[in-house]
Amino acid sequence: MPRLDRCLNIWDLRAAAQRRLPKGLFEFVDRATEDHIAVANNRSAFERIKLRHRALLDVSRRSVATTLFGKPASMPLAIAPTGSAGLCWHLGELELAKAAAKAKVPLTLSTASMTPMEAIAKAAGPEQGGRLWFQLYVWKQRELSHQLIERANRNGFEALIVTVDSPVGANREYNTHNGFGLPFSLTPRFMLDVLRHPAWALDVPMKYFTSIGFPRHENYPPEHRKSILSGVGARDALRADSLDWNDIAKFRDMWPGTLMLKGVNRPDDAIKALGYGIDGIIVSNHGGRNMDSAAATLDVLPDIAEAVGDRATIILDSGVRRGSDIVKALALGAKAVLTGRATLYGTAVGGEAGAVKAINILKNEMDKTMAYTGCRTVDEVTPDIFWGLREGNRLRPTAMAAD
Ligand SMILES: Cc1cc2nc3c(=O)[nH]c(=O)nc-3n(C[C@H](O)[C@H](O)[C@H](O)COP(=O)(O)O)c2cc1C
Repeated sequence: MPRLDRCLNIWDLRAAAQRRLPKGLFEFVDRATEDHIAVANNRSAFERIKLRHRALLDVSRRSVATTLFGKPASMPLAIAPTGSAGLCWHLGELELAKAAAKAKVPLTLSTASMTPMEAIAKAAGPEQGGRLWFQLYVWKQRELSHQLIERANRNGFEALIVTVDSPVGANREYNTHNGFGLPFSLTPRFMLDVLRHPAWALDVPMKYFTSIGFPRHENYPPEHRKSILSGVGARDALRADSLDWNDIAKFRDMWPGTLMLKGVNRPDDAIKALGYGIDGIIVSNHGGRNMDSAAATLDVLPDIAEAVGDRATIILDSGVRRGSDIVKALALGAKAVLTGRATLYGTAVGGEAGAVKAINILKNEMDKTMAYTGCRTVDEVTPDIFWGLREGNRLRPTAMAAD
């Protein structure tokens, strides 16, 4: 796939995705909310941290491999849930899941996936070497969510991830400007946008149209499983703003496997989660897509990691675009990261091969950063690699820029 060969980093994949996808869809994936402060801040938190080389240490035998919840992963990365993978590529969630199995990292399937979880489990489940996690948006009618949890359990999903940072919909004004929305409304502006991207139009909507018709949110309960042209009611019923700790207690009772909360930003919430038997805390601000004043996840990570200690697994997402970002997150207390857009850009450019490419790019960059900083295993990645380190794993803000 020549398009992929020319992509040397995640930014190249992003540029290629931008060329391939209609503007409305690309911006839905790429942009965030309101004034795009949170998304930029997530990146600058990574960028302002500086590392120090370690000299003259034999790093010829090094590995980025790790374990996540007691099982091996080829690197400290899992794929984040992204509801629109199936629009970026025909059966995009399936492609992402196969890529994750091939790369030996876990895949999180979104509630809003356009491929049913059954098909994902069949094609990329444990028998195919895959590890599958399921992300839950909670329906106002709780029984519907409880049924979904049971369905994920029946299908052998290893972990349940409850997204807890989305009580209300975000102000993504650019979608309105672009005439883009889910459900799709076939506005003249959107149709023109599609016509300007014929490769995508032929490869994605046309393939659906000539096989299953317009895609649906296949994990939604039957009464809400409408095509992407007509799902308004379903979206309104999603993301209950009444979600609270009582729901978490119920989910814990119901779910026998690993249970994680995605979108924790405060140590007190993380500590409270421990009391509810939560196994994993995902420090996330939804890739800056929800609250534009959200703190960078890398900035809130150390306090949460310190408060939780080894009582739960800490995972970070939002803004990971380079392998060095993963090393920085690990040094500040995360056990792994999730990638949302990075692997989605890859999927948009080359399906499974594109997502594998994105993972391999991050893996190679991570490997190099570990070699430079003298870390032979992920356990050797500690705050000691930082320049500007003062106490524990705290970085003085000024020390990040100048000492
Ligand atoms: C297009 C898109 C769709 C997403 N859909 C979901 C979703 O269905 N459920 C969810 O919990 N998070 C969703 N997210 C958030 C991601 O899971 C993740 O938190 C975020 O993308 C991480 O930031 P990054 O994109 O900078 O890696 C979505 C993100 C994007 C970019």
